[in-house]
Amino acid sequence: METKVTNITVEKVKTSKISQVDFSNLPFGKVYSDHMLVCDYSNGTWHSPRVVPYQGITLDPAAKIFHYGQSVFEGMKAYKDTDGHIWLFRPEENQKRLNISSKRISIPELPQEIFMEGLKTLLQVEKDWIPTTPGSSLYIRPFIFASGTGLHASPADQYKFIIACAPSGPYFSGKLKVLIEEKYSRAANGGVGYAKAGGNYAGQFYPTQLAIEKGYQQVVWTDDNTHEYIEEAGAMNIFVRINDTLLTSPVSDRILDGVTRKSVIELAKSEDFPVEIRKIRVEELVAASKNGSLKEMFGAGTAAVISPISGFGHRDKDYMLPEIENSYADHLKKRITDIQYNRAEDPFNWRYQVL
Ligand code: COI
Repeated sequence: METKVTNITVEKVKTSKISQVDFSNLPFGKVYSDHMLVCDYSNGTWHSPRVVPYQGITLDPAAKIFHYGQSVFEGMKAYKDTDGHIWLFRPEENQKRLNISSKRISIPELPQEIFMEGLKTLLQVEKDWIPTTPGSSLYIRPFIFASGTGLHASPADQYKFIIACAPSGPYFSGKLKVLIEEKYSRAANGGVGYAKAGGNYAGQFYPTQLAIEKGYQQVVWTDDNTHEYIEEAGAMNIFVRINDTLLTSPVSDRILDGVTRKSVIELAKSEDFPVEIRKIRVEELVAASKNGSLKEMFGAGTAAVISPISGFGHRDKDYMLPEIENSYADHLKKRITDIQYNRAEDPFNWRYQVL
């Protein structure tokens, strides 16, 4: 859908709250910047994109988001380099995926220009909110939800697209111990697992809480049919290193096509690391752990970047990973973040300059 965004209006706050924020100690996703982008869908069209002061939203209790969970979202980050320039990482991937998710949830496609111009306008206004302390960035949360009302279980006729920004520190601190889940499932064939639908994440909370109570930090989801293959690690894609080969599961109906995932694969291939994109049996992991060939596991995602895994639990037994030199996770994290923060060449053209 082609729409020219000619004017995005900007209404600035009277008083910024930036001086109240401790930028040296930022939590993840809890502190919000002064402004947000809002855009409405009604009468069959997206219209009125505007930057306004960050504020609560009033919704009718019959809005379909509350009853039928019609919502999708994205996760992105803005980075500031040492010269004060502002960068995004592969934003067109998020823009496209938002519409892929929307299509599956019957939300009308958002024109690319509204997403991109809205994002750039917002970031120009919020440039001072992009933190520069190591490991921090401005986490960007674009989302769409059904604001239209009615209890008929069918798509709404009104939606809101919002982009909110949270100056954030790391999502996880330290290595993660994960539990291989064999009872609950995150996604099923023909379902919505590949979409960034809000409900996909809510469905993970209960099994994850059970795993936390057992001493793990995240769940490794297995296929819903047999529970024999690993698929995702909580809110991240999962990578495994057996000997020197980097393995990850192929994307499918059930697995999110992560931007960090595809970047890790491209980076690893460009450095001639052996990479295999194939189904990974739980049995293979257990055997590799027992014979010492399982060297590393890590999660990859926008929020989590690359998060090393210390070990996994399977059927009441823990399999801990060795401490190794020349870790792929450390190396790939450095390469990817050096590109994101404009500390290194970007041979892939992934960086996108905003300012
Ligand atoms: C992201 O990695 O940006 C996500 O959207 C995952 C979310 C659970 C923080």
